[in-house]
Amino acid sequence: MVQLNVNSINYIMFKIGNIKVKTPLFLAPMAGITDTTFRSLCKKMGAEIVYTEFVSANGIIRENKKTLDMMKFSEEERPIGVQIFGDDAEILGHSAKIIKDRFSPDLIDINFGCPVPKITNKGAGSGAMKNMTLMIKMAENVIKNAENIPVTVKMRAGWSQDKIISKKAGIELEKIGIKAITLHPRTSNQKFTGRADWSLIRELKDSVQIPIIGNGDIQKPEDYQKMIHETNCDAVMIARSALGNPWIFKQIKSIIYKNKYDEISLENRVRLCNEHYMLLKKDKSEQHCLNLTKKHYSWYLKNFPNASFWRIKFMKSHSLDEIEENLKDLNAEYGINI
Ligand SMILES: Cc1cc2nc3c(=O)[nH]c(=O)nc-3n(C[C@H](O)[C@H](O)[C@H](O)COP(=O)(O)O)c2cc1C
Repeated sequence: MVQLNVNSINYIMFKIGNIKVKTPLFLAPMAGITDTTFRSLCKKMGAEIVYTEFVSANGIIRENKKTLDMMKFSEEERPIGVQIFGDDAEILGHSAKIIKDRFSPDLIDINFGCPVPKITNKGAGSGAMKNMTLMIKMAENVIKNAENIPVTVKMRAGWSQDKIISKKAGIELEKIGIKAITLHPRTSNQKFTGRADWSLIRELKDSVQIPIIGNGDIQKPEDYQKMIHETNCDAVMIARSALGNPWIFKQIKSIIYKNKYDEISLENRVRLCNEHYMLLKKDKSEQHCLNLTKKHYSWYLKNFPNASFWRIKFMKSHSLDEIEENLKDLNAEYGINI
């Protein structure tokens, strides 16, 4: 158990539109990761608001089945945000209408943060940070079509170090009716290098009235308090530290409400491997389940004696039968009855 000496405890009620959550703790959108299975597990562990991975507005209006499937969620996942990306205001607006009519999520979030060239080349993702007029037009059209669903934005600090625009963009986005902004304060050029500059979250928070969700480099449970203290942000969003570690949400809540948290036991780690696999098996095709099981196990099976032995065993599996054989062995080794 880790006992902390934290002076002020945050019991903050967080609100976006009509959505209220007791602890302002979000699971970030992550492409290829935040599917219904992972979101449900994180929710169970204490994430209060979760997001789909980013979904192409073009794919939505073309009614591409794979794209539409990415937006399916269960009622237990609410409150949930569907995140969209695109480079055309009309198409983004049209996609927001389809999302509202068919899926009715609690939030629609616009991605102005993705740094991948394939996305930014035409002005989607963080490419929008190079053209604020287009960014505002796109956001306006989404707001108009989303009607009563609150629209939020997730963005980076700017395109490059000499073009930091998070404060200016935040002020403009608030004016047109964006209901909250998540800031990952790296530039697009930085991708994931260097450090997230939390002072930019503070600057944005001081410049607008709408809720600001801080994101970037929460590496351990204690960082939640640190980010709130340093930036005064209204909520904290976590991405990479939840990979193979959905317990981080539980640990953060434990700090907030009890000033201490438990380390993850090996038994719980193995139990979650079983649960995650069973959920994937129910939801995905055989090949997709195999790929995702390997991906998530490469994160779960770490930081305990013999972890690499088990990781390699699972990585070499070619079928779900092999995964299940290996799981049986793993359970037997650690005395887990499923
Ligand atoms: C594998 C991966 C996929 C991501 N996909 C998305 C995405 O679909 N939409 C988005 O807004 N951000 C995406 N991000 C960025 C994260 O949401 C987050 O902003 C970033 O990782 C910084 O937070 P962290 O330090 O907690 O990881 C992704 C990040 C990773 C590592």
